[in-house]
Amino acid sequence: MKAVILVGGFGTRLRPLTFSKPKPLVDFCNRPMIMHQIEALVKVGVDEVILAVNYQPEVMLSAMKAVEAEYKVKITFSIEGEPLGTAGPLGLVRDVLEASDQPFFVLNSDVICPFPFQKLVDFHRAHGGEGTILTTPVTDPSKYGVVLCQPESSEIARFVEKPKNYVGNQINAGIYILSPSVLKRIHPRPMSIEKDVFPHMAAAGTLHAVPLEGFWADVGQPADFLTGMALYLDSIHANVTSANQLDPSVEIIGPVMIDPSATIAPNCKIGPNVVIGPDAHIQRGVRLSHCVAMRGSVVKDHACVRNSIVGWYSSVGRWSRLENVTVLGEDVHVADEVYVNGGSVLPHKSVGANILTPQIVM
Ligand code: GDD
Ligand code: MG
Repeated sequence: MKAVILVGGFGTRLRPLTFSKPKPLVDFCNRPMIMHQIEALVKVGVDEVILAVNYQPEVMLSAMKAVEAEYKVKITFSIEGEPLGTAGPLGLVRDVLEASDQPFFVLNSDVICPFPFQKLVDFHRAHGGEGTILTTPVTDPSKYGVVLCQPESSEIARFVEKPKNYVGNQINAGIYILSPSVLKRIHPRPMSIEKDVFPHMAAAGTLHAVPLEGFWADVGQPADFLTGMALYLDSIHANVTSANQLDPSVEIIGPVMIDPSATIAPNCKIGPNVVIGPDAHIQRGVRLSHCVAMRGSVVKDHACVRNSIVGWYSSVGRWSRLENVTVLGEDVHVADEVYVNGGSVLPHKSVGANILTPQIVM
C-alpha cells in the first residue's frame, strides 16, 4: 500500500522552531514528527510514502535517506511548482496512486494520535465506499473540518470545513484512506480536499467516518504542541528508565521522557509532562514542568521552565524563569536571572533582559 503525507508549506505557526528545520522534522517527543507517522504506516504494510511538498526539500531529502534505510520503505518526493492545497497534490501523483487498485492513505503532516491504520483499512474494505475519514471530538470545532453522519450510520451526510456556526463536534482528524476512484474528482491544480472533494463525496454517499479511539492533537502550533506532548506521554505511559541513571535526590512527577544521553544534576524536580532530548544537560536544582528541552540544550542551576520549549542547543541561565508558551529557537541564550513570559525568540539570539509580556524577539 501507498501513503501520501501532505507536508505543505513553511510551518509558520510553529516558528521559531521551523526557522531551523521543516515542520515534519521538528522533534516531537524526541523523534521527528514525521517519524511517528512513517513508523506506524510501515507497521501496517505501507511500502511507499510520497511526501507532497511545495518548497525545495534539500534538508528533508537527506533526512529521509536514513529513514528509507532504517524502515525499508520507499520514500519519494512530489514537489509542487505552486502550492496545490490539500487535494491538488494527489492529482499530481495520480499515476503512482492509480498503478494498483489498492486504496491509499492520506495524512496531514501535523497530527499525532495512536494511528489506527489497520482499523482504517479493515473498515474501509468492509463498507465498500470511496473514502474513510478518521474523526475525533473536540471542544472548539471552528478550527477544523466538521463531519456529520447519517443517523446510526458511518456514512457522512455533510462535511463542513471551519464552520462559522456550530454544526457538530466530531471533526476530521486529518487522516484518510481513499480508493483510487476518488482521483477522478481531483485535478493537479490548487484544490482543497476539505472544500472541493469531501462535500461532493458526502453528497454521493461514498464517504464514511470511523471514530478514533484515544488521544488526538494537531501539533502545528506551540501551545497545541505542548498539549499534544502531554497526551502522547500519557498514552505511552512514559517514565524514566534504568538507562537514565538519576541521582536519588532528583524528583520525578508523572509522565516524563528523558533521553539516555541527557544528564540531570542532583536536586532537580522534573514533571509532569517533560521531554528532555539527547545530550541535554539539566543542572542542579532545576524545576521543569510541561516543557521540552531539545537536543543539546542546557538549563542552568536553579532555573525554572514551565509550559515552554527550549530549542536545540539553547541555554537558560541560572535562576532564570521561562513560562507561558515561551519558545526559544535554535541556539538561543538566556542570561542569568531573566524572566521570560511568552517570548518567541528567533534562532541565534541572546536574551539579556526580562520579557514581561508575550512577544516575538528578533
Ligand atoms: N503539499 C501541500 N501543498 N501540502 C499542503 C498544502 C499545499 O499547498 N497546504 C497545506 N498542506 C498540508 C499542511 O502541511 C498540513 O499537513 C495539511 O496539508 C493540512 O493543512 P493545515 O494548514 O495544517 O490545515 P488545518 O490544520 O487548518 O486543517 C486541516 O487539518 C484539520 C486537522 O488538523 C483540515 O484537514 C481540517 O479539516 C482538519 O480538521
Ligand atoms: Mg494543521
